[in-house]
Amino acid sequence: MKTTRFITSTLFLISSTFAQVNVPPEFDPNATFQITIQHTLDITAPLQPADATVWDVDLYHVARNPGVIEYLRSRNSNPVTIICYFNAGLVQHSDCDFDTVWNTTENRHLLGNGWGEEFPDEFWINIKDQKARDLIKTRIALAAHLGCDGVDPDNIDGYGVDSDPDEENKTGWNLTEDDDERFILDLATYAHTLTTKRGFTMLIGQKNAPELAERVEASLDFAVLEDCKELRDGGEGFCNEYTRYVEKGKPVFSIEYPRTLEGTRAGSCRTTGASQAEYTAACDERGNDLFSTVLKIKEGEGELNGCTQYCSGNEVGTGVVVTAEDSTLDGGECVTLP
Ligand SMILES: *[C@@H]1O[C@H](CO)[C@@H](O)[C@H](O)[C@H]1NC(C)=O
Ligand SMILES: *[C@@H]1O[C@H](CO)[C@@H](O)[C@H](O)[C@H]1NC(C)=O
Ligand SMILES: *[C@@H]1O[C@H](CO)[C@@H](O)[C@H](O)[C@H]1NC(C)=O
Ligand SMILES: *[C@@H]1O[C@H](CO)[C@@H](O)[C@H](O)[C@H]1NC(C)=O
Repeated sequence: MKTTRFITSTLFLISSTFAQVNVPPEFDPNATFQITIQHTLDITAPLQPADATVWDVDLYHVARNPGVIEYLRSRNSNPVTIICYFNAGLVQHSDCDFDTVWNTTENRHLLGNGWGEEFPDEFWINIKDQKARDLIKTRIALAAHLGCDGVDPDNIDGYGVDSDPDEENKTGWNLTEDDDERFILDLATYAHTLTTKRGFTMLIGQKNAPELAERVEASLDFAVLEDCKELRDGGEGFCNEYTRYVEKGKPVFSIEYPRTLEGTRAGSCRTTGASQAEYTAACDERGNDLFSTVLKIKEGEGELNGCTQYCSGNEVGTGVVVTAEDSTLDGGECVTLP
């Protein structure tokens, strides 16, 4: 049975129409989630975890290895919602369309400042320009073409960089919350016009950007949060902004990054998972009963790789799973839109 939800957004209200979003039945707030975007999934290995029904994988890993979609669907006994991640606020050298679309005489003016030292090959785009927004929409069309069920557009919070007095590396576009709101709503309106290969509506999520949650939730289908408990900084956290999603039956996938999850070798997974203190802080009750929470390695070799510890139903020292990846698959030829 299809779950049908009616959504309204600012744009829809203006035109007084309603969009109907058909959501796959397995896509609910209790769905077990895995995100593996460091390298391409090793499609020759047994699928781990075998019971995750929501997978977040990199759009361009899939474009270079379309077999990833079939692998995820055939190795799992349950239906799987596949979310394709891409960088939306910035474009980067490894993107299939970087040289052919963005760094061209015609479109180079849409590239702004680099992220900085941590990600030197990523460039903020001018999301205020309709052309740039339309070019990002072609990534959503590619996701539909490849067989993804949803998209996870990252870095829709350039306003935070531009408003932070301590941030040296601005986007170059003086972005405000309104700019990013307009950007994500424009992408959402477009995504919802597309039908996936499975016959559902192309789903689109909110990545971080807690300041926008109240304004955009009605137009989006899920959220993916990083560090909402601010485990690493000991802050108040922004988890609470997202309970509004769960109240509407929309999943919130929450990623926490305990330092102790990484093993002694860079990028490896500590088999007993995060320390008791970090596990408890990451998996505590705050939002955890509502959100689908995973613990991941944050930086360097292991950044968002196959290493995951699950909170739900597990205890300190348990719930660690490693999804096999194959970095040799990351650089192949890209499938493009017909
Ligand atoms: C999710 O799990 C909780 C706790 O087991 C349960 O109360 C709730 O009804 C479940 N929600 C859905 C949408 O299945
Ligand atoms: C874009 O391409 C030009 C010429 O091919 C190159 O010199 C430049 O470094 C590229 N820009 C970026 C941001 O990668
Ligand atoms: C800002 O960018 C410059 C040039 O890429 C880099 O040297 C500097 O470290 C960056 N600052 C931060 C805070 O990332
Ligand atoms: C951003 O703001 C600064 C300071 O007001 C201004 O000099 C600059 O031209 C602005 N840049 C853009 C792209 O709007």
